[in-house]
Amino acid sequence: MARIPLVAGNWKMNFDHLEATYFVQRLAWTLRDARFDFRRCEVALMPAFTALRSVQVLVEADDLRIRYGAQSVSVTSQGAFTGDVSADMLSKLGCRYVIVGHSERRKYHPEDDANIVDQVRAVLAAGMQPILCVGESFEERRQGIELEFAVGQVHDVTRDLSDEDVARLIVAYEPVWAIGTGMVATPDSAQQAARAIREAVHAQFGPRMAGAMRILYGGSVNSRNAQQLLRGADVDGFLVGGASLDVDEFAKICRLAE
Ligand code: G3P
Repeated sequence: MARIPLVAGNWKMNFDHLEATYFVQRLAWTLRDARFDFRRCEVALMPAFTALRSVQVLVEADDLRIRYGAQSVSVTSQGAFTGDVSADMLSKLGCRYVIVGHSERRKYHPEDDANIVDQVRAVLAAGMQPILCVGESFEERRQGIELEFAVGQVHDVTRDLSDEDVARLIVAYEPVWAIGTGMVATPDSAQQAARAIREAVHAQFGPRMAGAMRILYGGSVNSRNAQQLLRGADVDGFLVGGASLDVDEFAKICRLAE
C-alpha cells in the first residue's frame, strides 16, 4: 500500500513567532523554487505554542501547503489547569498534528503511559493526528530488548483504540540515544524497528491498518543520512530535530523524501 512520506520538523523550544514566520516563508520559497511536489511528500513543522497563530496566519494568507502542529497537548479540555493548552485550542489554530510522548516530555514532565494514552485520545477527539514517539534508551539497547521495548510502547497506546483511531495514528521511532547526539541509528536498525512496529499493528488490527500506518524515524537525521534511512521499506519519513532549524538543510531532507 502506498504511503505518502511525512517529514516533520520538531523545533522544540526554538524560534519565537517572528523567527518562525521568517523560516516558514523561506522554506516555502525554497521548496517552490525546487518545484517540490507536496503530493509526493508531506512537510510539517511543529513550532512552540507561541508561534502557532503566526504560522497559521501565514499559511492561510499565502495558501501554503506546509502543514504544522504542536509538540504536546493537555489531556483536559478546559478549566483550572494553569499553563495547559487544550486539543481544541490547537485544532482551532489549524494544527493537523500533535507530537505525543516525546522522550523529552517523558523525561522532564510527568508524562507517564496513562497520560500519553489520554493525550492521544484528546488529539484524536479534536480531529488531529497524533505523532506518537517511542524508542529505547541506550540501556535497553544494551540489553538487546529495543524492539520489544518500542513495540510495547506502541501497544500500550493502541490496545484500547478503535480501528478508526489507529488509522489516524502516526508512530515516530526515536531511539533516545540517537536524539541530539549525532549517533544516528543504522538504516538496518531503523528499518527493523519500523518493521517490528508494523508487524505488531498487523497482528492487532490487520493488514489494512498496518499497511496504511506511517512510521517515521527520528534521531540525528540530516541531509547526509536521510537517503539511506529511507531505503527501509517501512520507514515513511522523519521527525527531525536539530536539522529542522536550518531551512536549507530541512528542505534538502524534504526533497530526499519526495
Ligand atoms: O523529535 C525529533 C528528535 O527528538 C530528534 O532530534 O535533534 O536528534 O534530530 P534530533
